[in-house]
Amino acid sequence: MHIPSLIEKKRDGHELSADEITSFINDFTEGKLPDYQMSAWAMAVFFRGMTPEETRYLTDAMMNSGRVLEYPKNSPPKIDKHSTGGVGDKISLVLAPLLACDEVWVPMISGRGLGITGGTLDKLESIPGFNVNLDQKRALKQLEQIHVFMIGQTSDICPADKKLYALRDVTGTVASQPLIVASIMSKKLAENLDRLVLDVKFGNGAFMKTRKEAKQLAESMTTVGQGMGVKTSYLLNPMEEPLGRAVGNALEVAECVEILQGGSGAEDVIKTVLDLSEKISESSRDELQKRLKDGSAWKKFASLVYAQDGDATALEKLKDIQAAPVVKSVEAKASGKIKTMTAESIGRASVMLGAGRQRAEDKIDFAVGLSAIKKVGEKVEKGEPLMFVHARTEKAFEEVRPILEKAAQIE
Ligand code: URA
Repeated sequence: MHIPSLIEKKRDGHELSADEITSFINDFTEGKLPDYQMSAWAMAVFFRGMTPEETRYLTDAMMNSGRVLEYPKNSPPKIDKHSTGGVGDKISLVLAPLLACDEVWVPMISGRGLGITGGTLDKLESIPGFNVNLDQKRALKQLEQIHVFMIGQTSDICPADKKLYALRDVTGTVASQPLIVASIMSKKLAENLDRLVLDVKFGNGAFMKTRKEAKQLAESMTTVGQGMGVKTSYLLNPMEEPLGRAVGNALEVAECVEILQGGSGAEDVIKTVLDLSEKISESSRDELQKRLKDGSAWKKFASLVYAQDGDATALEKLKDIQAAPVVKSVEAKASGKIKTMTAESIGRASVMLGAGRQRAEDKIDFAVGLSAIKKVGEKVEKGEPLMFVHARTEKAFEEVRPILEKAAQIE
């Protein structure tokens, strides 16, 4: 195919065929199509958009640029969730073991945190020994034995996305809806799922700032998923304040342990877990809730940690094992009701403390972050803690204090 003609075709707003898109992506993956031509094409897509069919062809081509997971014949249904990310989003840690209590397999491939959005892999790695890099044989065996794995993306899954995302990052073409849809869905669909639920966030702490944008993205991802034979549903969830009361890797795992050990704790986390689980589980909400309360989901999580080389006995004392040297409160300046607890500012403060990454190569500090964060609508007295900051140094605490004071408005 003549590459400049394909770039011009998109530039002029015409629709590309499945063959054109597939060969374009294959050539790019194999290094036959240079970055400058791919960048020009991505910019054409940015301005011209793509039809739902083109988006599906692109997703399919990117998914097939690498390995698609395979399972034995007659294995149970494969189900998973994807979140577009947010501050304090620890849902996967509770949802994956909860779902795996059923006769289903949960082959969860997650990502690392970047910017203010935390990542499931980083949270899991705050558990001593936890191994997120299982080979195919071991991962499959684990599915057979305990119905769930939680691992990182391997280099042979969606290599086209890896290359294209790196280019988009430096050519102003990240914020293109069809490119986002194909990027996210190609990775999730490489898990070869039967059912998928999408948790699409909107608000100051999310990728999508408005409900309208989030709905468009969710519908486009759902159309692609359904078109590729995966029963796909979605929920739109606000991300104006952090999810739960903890932000930071070990602190968030500790919050999940509390929920898993008896179904109590952060109510918004429990509600979101149940809302999403209900969408893809064949069990009722009552049954799911019971599994959180009676310890079934907790036992499943402990066996998952054990199966992936983690120290399951460390789970209940994680806050002591991963303890930050400086723990100080930020106090309410007035009495009243919490009006805002701005997720974006809380996320930014947690990255400054070292709980997240500014750049992909940055190292994470598992112990730092925020705990006991007040929720919007709660009453506080003047001088009462609004949250506790877990910092590596006094200086780090002083740096984030003004940001956190501003994040919490009281009325
Ligand atoms: N996350 C992804 O994996 N890809 C995008 O394009 C945006 C968010």
